[in-house]
Amino acid sequence: MSNEPFARRRAELMNMVGEGAIAVLPTSPERRRNRDVFHPYRPDSDFYYLTGFAEPEAVAVLVPGREHGEYLLFCRERDPKKETWDGPIVGQDRAVSDYGADDAFPIEDIDDILPGLLEGREKLYYTMGTDAEFDHRVISWVSHVRERARAGVRAPGEYVSLEHLLHEMRVIKERDEVEIMRRAAQVSARAHQRAMEVCRPGMAEYEIEAEFMAEFRRHNGWPAYPPIVGGGANGCILHYIANDQPLRDGDLLLIDAGVELDYYASDITRTFPVNGRFTGEQRAVYDIVLAAQAAAIEAVTPGNHWDQPHQAATRVLVEGMLELGLLTGDIDEIIESGSYTRFFMHRTGHWLGMDVHDVGDYRVDGDWRILEPGMALTVEPGLYIPAESTGVDPRWWNIGIRIEDDVVVARNGCEVLSEGAPKSPDDIEAVMAA
Ligand code: GLY
Ligand code: MN
Ligand code: MN
Repeated sequence: MSNEPFARRRAELMNMVGEGAIAVLPTSPERRRNRDVFHPYRPDSDFYYLTGFAEPEAVAVLVPGREHGEYLLFCRERDPKKETWDGPIVGQDRAVSDYGADDAFPIEDIDDILPGLLEGREKLYYTMGTDAEFDHRVISWVSHVRERARAGVRAPGEYVSLEHLLHEMRVIKERDEVEIMRRAAQVSARAHQRAMEVCRPGMAEYEIEAEFMAEFRRHNGWPAYPPIVGGGANGCILHYIANDQPLRDGDLLLIDAGVELDYYASDITRTFPVNGRFTGEQRAVYDIVLAAQAAAIEAVTPGNHWDQPHQAATRVLVEGMLELGLLTGDIDEIIESGSYTRFFMHRTGHWLGMDVHDVGDYRVDGDWRILEPGMALTVEPGLYIPAESTGVDPRWWNIGIRIEDDVVVARNGCEVLSEGAPKSPDDIEAVMAA
């Protein structure tokens, strides 16, 4: 992305917080994996959304109306020795020339400079509670300014969470963001198709996972979350990530995997038979989940509220469970009591964006939020029937099915970003037979 979207977002945010306020936004810390090995670095999504700056140890400060610059970036200083080992550091000069900062300072100097920037500002926009250590530093900067009250210096009197304003911006995707998400969904969809093409009984779950890693890295992406590759009974474990079991003839394979490309996630689930042919029972359950998903996608349209796709999917799933004999009773009572959650225990979707479970409120003033063009979400109904399910005919045991697509609310209806991943039983069987 060019600098333009980041500058525009900063301007929009500054406009909302207004003169008299200051906003402080640190990026994520580096995280240790074990001993001296660190996880690959990923900047905080809020921070990146406003800065386009991907290095660790950085803090963005927005000071609307400040004469000597409104956007200040604290970041690492260049260091030839360190750069020999770890690669180039952006440094203060390029923070200004390439990243649009009005001024930039070494991160080591933040304790000396930040209190001065707080002076005379009434409101401090900062999100408490994600990094205790940084919270303490912010409090100490404010205390520092307070101590100078007798010199006529005023400290911010009001702390406001930055999250709300920022997350309301993030929940509506810009055109360029949708374009990245479209690409991410295409890469993931292609990987799901590839998994269907190569899957054979006797392979291990991790061998199928390897196809995803290869496809993601081929496009310079990483998994947006740990892939779930669960054969047979493992398909009924919602957060299964061990992915270390053999794939058996006659079982289903549930794969929930999506790439993160340019800081945007995709999140796709497909379920297919390990041997390429659905059994009658597997197909019966699959058809119900597929119909539930179609009903939910149909309900993703501007003016509908957040819960309508979930309600639509739930009704179709419960109807199907009644038909199969998994549940008995009155459909409305089953929905009302929630007894169906024995087999469908999660919601039908979540916001999707820079974070796989993206930011944004689901309710406004207690009511479900109304869907608007540009909102991105997943649609992912499922049915999970573990072995030993009491009162359930064993022929349904170990069938775990989820079908998950990524959609963006359009002017009418929605665009399904991930439709490249085969989904109908006939398409899946055709791909696997080829
Ligand atoms: N992969 C996480 C989810 O489907 O919500
Ligand atoms: Mn998923
Ligand atoms: Mn999801």
